Amino acid sequence: KTWMAGFHPQNRCGGGAGSRHYSSGPLGARDDIRGARAFFTTPIFYVNAAPHIGHLYSALLADALCRHRRLRVPSAAATRFSTGTDEHGLKIQQAAAAAGLAPTELCDRVSAQFRQLFREAGISSTDFIRTTETRHRIAVQHFWGLLKARGLLYKGLYEGWYCASEECFLPEAKVTRQSDSSGDSCHVSLESGHPVSWTKEENYIFRLSQFREPLQRWLRGDPQAIAPEPFHRAVLQWLEEELPDLSVSRKSSHLHWGIPVPGDDSQTIYVWLDALVNYLTVIGYPNAEFKSWWPTTSHIIGKDILKFHAIYWPALLLGAGMSPPHRIYVHSHWTVCGQKMSKSLGNVVDPRTCLDRYTVDGFRYFLLRQGVPNWDCDYYDEKVVKLLDSELADALGGLLNRCTAKRINPSGTYPVFCTTCFPSEPGLVGPSVRAQAEDYALVNAVATLPRQVADHYDNFQIYKALEAVSSCVRQTNGFVQRHAPWRLNWESPVDAPWLGTVLHVALECLRVFGTLLQPVTPSLADKLLSRLGVSATERGLGELCFLPRFYGHPCPFEGRRLGPETGLLFPRLDQSRAWLVKAHRT
Ligand code: MSP
Repeated sequence: KTWMAGFHPQNRCGGGAGSRHYSSGPLGARDDIRGARAFFTTPIFYVNAAPHIGHLYSALLADALCRHRRLRVPSAAATRFSTGTDEHGLKIQQAAAAAGLAPTELCDRVSAQFRQLFREAGISSTDFIRTTETRHRIAVQHFWGLLKARGLLYKGLYEGWYCASEECFLPEAKVTRQSDSSGDSCHVSLESGHPVSWTKEENYIFRLSQFREPLQRWLRGDPQAIAPEPFHRAVLQWLEEELPDLSVSRKSSHLHWGIPVPGDDSQTIYVWLDALVNYLTVIGYPNAEFKSWWPTTSHIIGKDILKFHAIYWPALLLGAGMSPPHRIYVHSHWTVCGQKMSKSLGNVVDPRTCLDRYTVDGFRYFLLRQGVPNWDCDYYDEKVVKLLDSELADALGGLLNRCTAKRINPSGTYPVFCTTCFPSEPGLVGPSVRAQAEDYALVNAVATLPRQVADHYDNFQIYKALEAVSSCVRQTNGFVQRHAPWRLNWESPVDAPWLGTVLHVALECLRVFGTLLQPVTPSLADKLLSRLGVSATERGLGELCFLPRFYGHPCPFEGRRLGPETGLLFPRLDQSRAWLVKAHRT
């Protein structure tokens, strides 16, 4: 994909005289997403325990995708984003019993913790669903009725190892024997180590086996349906194996905490069927309005719940006469000291402590910059401090400071760009030409950055988008360092136009960085853009024309007063935090 492919004759910026080598047209024009609706979802979170950083990571990925999309298509009516809590099932029933609480009490308490965390972390969801709500029961029972009417449910004896923690039956090959703390032998899930119990019951069973070929056709016909690609391949691989029918209810005497099967109170609907339908409930299902949002849906999920989303859910949807979701974006897990986070290991990282320590924007940046969808990532505090100090405090904050400090920019304005000092044709020589080959490379890198970033978002590689921004920040610092504006003199008629140009280019780069960082660090980006004097209506990707004067167009920022000085963009963490000293000692 080349940026020039996006050239549109109606773009005010980009193209035109002098743009043979570099272009900086707005992003939206070439995108086919304009006007289209988009619906993003996080998984709904179990309320058996308090949220940890893994949960926050799932929600942040969805939030960043959604915010990036809003920058491309600003109409508020075009994007929806749901999250919420998964409150039914054996896992919650058992957790409530163990805590001596009624299930509703536990659900209210933990659901409120998720809601509060997401509010604090700036998760910009438009709906928070709880599966214990009436609107959800109506949706699930309606969905069940459709499957029943289409002959896809039958009653039969179902037996196997059930893992309450994973809320699913496991095949024999995924179960092993282990000795518990008192030396007694018990059966556990091979992958998670959680106990399983042999269950034999008469249940309703869904004819999942009928959907193997339709699912294969769907995935082969849409290679981007599941991203990143290795997960797409993994699902196709699973579909090569046998796909047995699926038990979709439990006896109410065993599982009472759930939605009853319509017309048969002796059975409770399987919690995964219940949970997956949340994606329809939030868009108004079963009322017809849901059709304007389905299937333009992107599910963001962790790899542990891929099978439920990429096999069971699409099969259930096809069974109910609907299309599979548009996209399934899959991420890997955060570990701590190489181990899975768990209450029993006592290594759970509390996201609220992290937000307090590193600030909301700092911690959002860390998780999204370091979290790689294809592999697990290990968490430790020093890594956060090192990354934030070097990329946000020193590189980005330092750059802003260098271009706005009174010493260097005494007028406090966006200086004028001089086309004689920095002609759009590289390689020109002349007494007033000051730009060098590396400067053209910088302009090219920043001009193509919005497109690169958009492509990374489309491929669910948000960390790569941030890596690309960070690399351009470094390049811009190199540019400033190379031309050392602090050694140039505003009073000198020879220096002044070039000094203005150096600052102008650096501020333009910062404007692009601020705009592109909005989905990840909304407050920090707001602070940066406000300091540059960029108004709220100038922050979308559709309007983002980098360095228009270089391309022969007027620049609306030239001569404009910068915004008020509001202190350091991102204060360094390493000296200021007493807790860190403590962490080093222990
Ligand atoms: N309730 C189900 C989802 C139902 S969606 C219809 C569930 N809940 S969960 O609370 O266990 O997990 C929610 C999300 O958090 C999942 O995407 C899961 O992958 C993610 N994470 C849980 N632990 C995680 C890490 N340690 N690291 C990253 N994400 C992890 O599954």
